[in-house]
Amino acid sequence: MAAGGTVLERRGPIRGTLRVPGDKSVSHRALLLGALASGTSRITGLSAGLDVAHTRAIVEALGARTADLADGVEIAGGELHEASHVLDVGNSGTGIRLLAGLCAGLPFLSVLQGDSSIACRPMARVTEPLRAMGARIDGRDGGRLAPLVIRGGGLVGIDYTLPVASAQVKSAILLAGLHATGPTVVRERVPTRRHTEEMLRERGVRVETARWDEGEVITLTPGPLSAGEIAVPGDPSQAAFWICGAAALPGSDLVVEGLYLGPERTGFLPVLERMGADLDVDEDGGRVRVRGAELHGTVVTGQELPDLVDEVPALAVAAALGTAGELDIRDAAELRAKESDRIATTAEMLTALGGSVETGPERLVVRAGTPLRPGEVRSHGDHRIAMAAAIAGLATGRVTIDDVACVATSYPGFLTDLAAVSAS
Ligand code: S3P
Repeated sequence: MAAGGTVLERRGPIRGTLRVPGDKSVSHRALLLGALASGTSRITGLSAGLDVAHTRAIVEALGARTADLADGVEIAGGELHEASHVLDVGNSGTGIRLLAGLCAGLPFLSVLQGDSSIACRPMARVTEPLRAMGARIDGRDGGRLAPLVIRGGGLVGIDYTLPVASAQVKSAILLAGLHATGPTVVRERVPTRRHTEEMLRERGVRVETARWDEGEVITLTPGPLSAGEIAVPGDPSQAAFWICGAAALPGSDLVVEGLYLGPERTGFLPVLERMGADLDVDEDGGRVRVRGAELHGTVVTGQELPDLVDEVPALAVAAALGTAGELDIRDAAELRAKESDRIATTAEMLTALGGSVETGPERLVVRAGTPLRPGEVRSHGDHRIAMAAAIAGLATGRVTIDDVACVATSYPGFLTDLAAVSAS
């Protein structure tokens, strides 16, 4: 590692009561739907992360007007126009894929680009169905990689079966479908987070979910979108770092409040329970209490993956801090297409701290029982690797992270919260 990096010297247990930032997935969608709806929407609890800030700047460039309020953000939408410049999503895969769908429906040119991680992430998964709807899209490698150049408008609804379990792809197609002629149908073999469907319904759009032979089918009928109010709940994916750490660190006693605990977002909780975690989950109240326990291993299947796809680095740390067994995450090729290749970067992070890890093309196995030791970790600019390393550092008392500033992608107050719930 290059000289430098940030040295964190904090120790577990994790104790206290926390509220985590507003959910990132819901925040992106709140801005996009607010931009599309005629009238003024008010969003409270919006994520303060850089990803969402990029999406806010983009909807402004497309003609939405936003203003900070004491308790949130106001957004006036409905009259979008061609932006005068390239739209920069920063590090956000959700941003670029959802915006690709939104821009595909708008009758003008949009150019979407992002940082060096975005430039490597697969885009054919959105450009193919959006082209099938009639959008004219170009990009590097024939539209498989960003930047993406989108000439939108004139769309027709399609009936599309998702080849990968991805809420981003589903959402891109549904957002495009808002401006298509005729209904848009998306079929999922494995369910993924449902925020887009839920939020579109709340704004008066007809979105129906039913069973089909192989899973679920979502049908959107285009129609006007109403402006409205939304209170963004706390992000379970951010809470996962604290919950996984507290579950494995002896003496921990943590409460996280105000969380979204809806469908397809909380798969890490049953996995932790299978590993022996001491959890008390109040779904209706959005509250999780966790106390430290001796954890052991379990198997996570591909069917479970979308429900915990962002929580793997945190779960891997919990497994490495366990007392026995192994966490065996299978059919997980999608992890290689995240902000970093998370099979490789999670393994590298734990190995740097003395953990015992094995990887395969689609597999990550983390063995318990090898005590972690202080070490130097490369985050690869991936916010979730940096946060997972910081949590692992609570067991060793010291961890050096080359780039910890990347936590601001989703959780600018992470280090403040780390100081609040751990000991020096
Ligand atoms: C997200 C979907 C997931 C997740 C991402 C947020 C969303 O991505 O990893 O952080 O808001 O729709 P995929 O759709 O690529 O699985």
